[in-house]
Amino acid sequence: MCGIVGYIGENDATPILLRALKRLEYRGYDSAGLVVIGDGLSYYKDKGMIDSLMQTLPKISGKVGLGHTRWATHGKPSKENAHPFLDCKGKIALIHNGIIENHMELRKQLIEEGHKFTSETDTEAMVHLIEKHYNGDIEKAVRESLKQVHGSYAIAVIHADEKDKIIAARNESPLVIGIGGGENFIASDVAALLDYTNEVAYVMDNEIVKLTKQGFEITTIKGESVSRTTETVNWTVEDAEKGGYEHYMLKEIFEQPNAIHDSLLGRIPDLTLNGFLDGNFNTIKIIACGTSYHAGLIGKYVFESFSKVPVVVEMGSEYRYSEPVYENTLVVLITQSGETADTLAAAKEAKRRGSMTIAITNVVGSSITREVDYTFYTRAGPEIGVAATKTFTTQLVALYILGITLGLIKRTLEYDRIRELTSTLRKLSRYVQSVLDDTEHIENCALTMKNATDVFYIGRNINYPTALEGALKFKEISYIHAEGYPAGELKHGPLALLTPRTPVVAIAPKDHTYEKMLGNISEVSARGSPVIAIGYQEDTELEKVADHVIYVPEVPALFSPIPITVVVQLLAYYVARDRKCSIDKPRHLAKSVTVE
Ligand code: G6P
Repeated sequence: MCGIVGYIGENDATPILLRALKRLEYRGYDSAGLVVIGDGLSYYKDKGMIDSLMQTLPKISGKVGLGHTRWATHGKPSKENAHPFLDCKGKIALIHNGIIENHMELRKQLIEEGHKFTSETDTEAMVHLIEKHYNGDIEKAVRESLKQVHGSYAIAVIHADEKDKIIAARNESPLVIGIGGGENFIASDVAALLDYTNEVAYVMDNEIVKLTKQGFEITTIKGESVSRTTETVNWTVEDAEKGGYEHYMLKEIFEQPNAIHDSLLGRIPDLTLNGFLDGNFNTIKIIACGTSYHAGLIGKYVFESFSKVPVVVEMGSEYRYSEPVYENTLVVLITQSGETADTLAAAKEAKRRGSMTIAITNVVGSSITREVDYTFYTRAGPEIGVAATKTFTTQLVALYILGITLGLIKRTLEYDRIRELTSTLRKLSRYVQSVLDDTEHIENCALTMKNATDVFYIGRNINYPTALEGALKFKEISYIHAEGYPAGELKHGPLALLTPRTPVVAIAPKDHTYEKMLGNISEVSARGSPVIAIGYQEDTELEKVADHVIYVPEVPALFSPIPITVVVQLLAYYVARDRKCSIDKPRHLAKSVTVE
């Protein structure tokens, strides 16, 4: 996720672009840059946040320009990988938010044709492709180029010799036009525009915009003209940064369909890992902390099912002090921030023990990437809320992809099975969207939990870790004591605590443990505890044993933690909101824990 902005008008573009970029910084903050048309193109970009860009920026001015704030997905944060990108002649400049799926083949072909690349990004291929198609008309060149591009993008492009326009385009990444008097804007979202205008027009998928001082024209990529009415937004800047959501956490929960989709783009299976790793390991260790540890517990079921290799999951803080009894171990470290001290220490220890190490992280170039042999990046974009949400579900996506890849390496997955798994993975973001399309019932169920002093979450098999994650989310933001249990363990102790004031959230998809779950739910009900069950649509049995049922779309059991997690995230969120807790910054907690 990155922030893009463009300006065309009568004023100096540089201060306008910088101010707009500050407003977009929550979308990405590892590097930034801008470009204006003055006497030719002048640009400046660097690693770091907008403030540091402002301090080092030389004087560049012009009345047309583009700005970018980056959240790295391809290539570490660096000056070379920052946007804008220029073509070989230094005439065309481009900024991009999204992921170009076929960038490798485009890059290869363009290099063969003589284009010189200067970065590791997926984006750079596009500027060279536009250069290749340029024949005196930048709009035409962008249109021709986009016909060859697969993936998600919001781009803005300028040409030094066509000072009167900015060309922008969108597919699956947000883009909005801001309409001023004699000046116009283009941006990733309205937060960037509100200091200048509140009249906007939204750009849709597969559309190209020609923005001039006087107005805008929208056409489809095929060239058909489109009419678009403008809208007036009444948001404050703060509302806009949160996309109109009350909290970052809620926004991030709702971003999950996109985050899951982006994390899958172009990599089932992970062919790079397939080429990198030999099958010479007989145990897998997954190491992580907090929510990432719960992802690891789910990963155990996935890896064992797909690769038939036994998996042990350990907390980062414990691994270092354990006995090194396993040989030929593949170690997978999961950390959304890439900076958790316990996980970093575990990575070093795993290397010392001679293991091959793989990291799953959301932050390109973070510390863990320097400690391990191979990094798999989730593409959730920046997560501002301390409670991990979209980074967790995209970690699960990473584990499914790695699991399939390990199955290929170990030759334990048949071709038909891989096809089936791939098809389910591709549908996941739609399933999550359908949970998010109807949250009213989840909100009502949450209200039955808000006055509790203790809440239990129970699940079996792969949803035992989902229960742990539900309880963790709940306690960290609502400050109500919550515990997750394997449902079969309740009778070995916790049952003693159940009363009519102790709600129990029972995760009960129709899998091979379903009948047992129904029995456990009945045990809970018999103690008078209210039960909120989470199950599959069309399941009429659950209503008979539970007080409330929340339905999710039916998915193969191994994938059920993804839609179910969205439900438990929302239960925690609504209770915390009702109790007026500090949701995005819960007391005593930090997003990144850099001490052991
Ligand atoms: C902190 C955060 C949690 C996170 C844990 C591990 O406790 O508050 O949300 O799950 O660290 O973080 P990591 O960045 O390693 O995934």
